Amino acid sequence: MPFTVAVAGKGGTGKTTFAAMLIRRLIEKKTGSILALDADPNSNLNEALGLAVPLTIADFIEETKAAKPLPAGMTKNQFIEYKLQTAIAASERVDLLAMGTPEGSGCYCYPNDLVRQHLTNLSSDYDYLVMDNEAGLEHLSRRIAVDVDIMFVISDASARGIRSAGRVREIMEGVKTNAKRVFLIVTKVNGDLAPLMPEIEKTGLELIGTIPLDQMVAQYDMEGKPLAELPADSPAVVATQAILDKIPQFN
Ligand SMILES: Nc1ncnc2c1ncn2[C@@H]1O[C@H](COP(=O)(O)OP(=O)(O)OP(=O)(O)O)[C@@H](O)[C@H]1O
Ligand SMILES: [Mg+2]
Repeated sequence: MPFTVAVAGKGGTGKTTFAAMLIRRLIEKKTGSILALDADPNSNLNEALGLAVPLTIADFIEETKAAKPLPAGMTKNQFIEYKLQTAIAASERVDLLAMGTPEGSGCYCYPNDLVRQHLTNLSSDYDYLVMDNEAGLEHLSRRIAVDVDIMFVISDASARGIRSAGRVREIMEGVKTNAKRVFLIVTKVNGDLAPLMPEIEKTGLELIGTIPLDQMVAQYDMEGKPLAELPADSPAVVATQAILDKIPQFN
């Protein structure tokens, strides 16, 4: 069983950036093998990691829609699992499985169901599973990202972001998640956090750390450059590492 980590929070708060920086750290520390799951239909974790995704789950669903006979001796379930295996983009440092975008008005339910059903098997050989989720709260109620060891709730340094983080916590309680630990991270901090402290306290979440606003992060994102290439002394990298230093499983 991998040590499983997921991110949640309002749109644009820095979930993908944090997930990519966490993976960067795991790679640097050589703590074990990593499967990254990009569960956001508007995937961009691959870019942040500098990986190409030849086939997303949505692509493979389209491909397999054309009803062909199953390979002899394979159940449908085995066939799906085999196809999902082939959708994992392997690299030397991290493997990546991306949900992709269903064609047209295609529903996300099917790709979600597939991932939920097969994730345990697909991830069983890895030491870490890192899930980058879409914005909003739906993924919590769809129960993909609920049975996790650590859920990082990411907020930007705005009262709205923090309130939204508080709602993530409420939903997680409502759907009876199995997140063993839940931490709040406030990102893009530019100045004093003190005025936000009352809102942060109201969320009931444990603030594990903050990540400063770092122009280089935004610039890399704009240029589509992998965050692994950020200098080791860039403020966001240093702050992310300080957060991860507090968690024994990442060291
Ligand atoms: N510490 C930071 N300093 C400066 N810019 C940042 C920082 N963290 C994230 N950003 C920028 O904020 C924007 C949103 O970040 P990111 O894509 O990680 O958010 P997200 O929560 O994954 O968004 P979405 O909800 O759309 O998936 C990006 O342009 C990113 O470069
Ligand atoms: Mg994202």
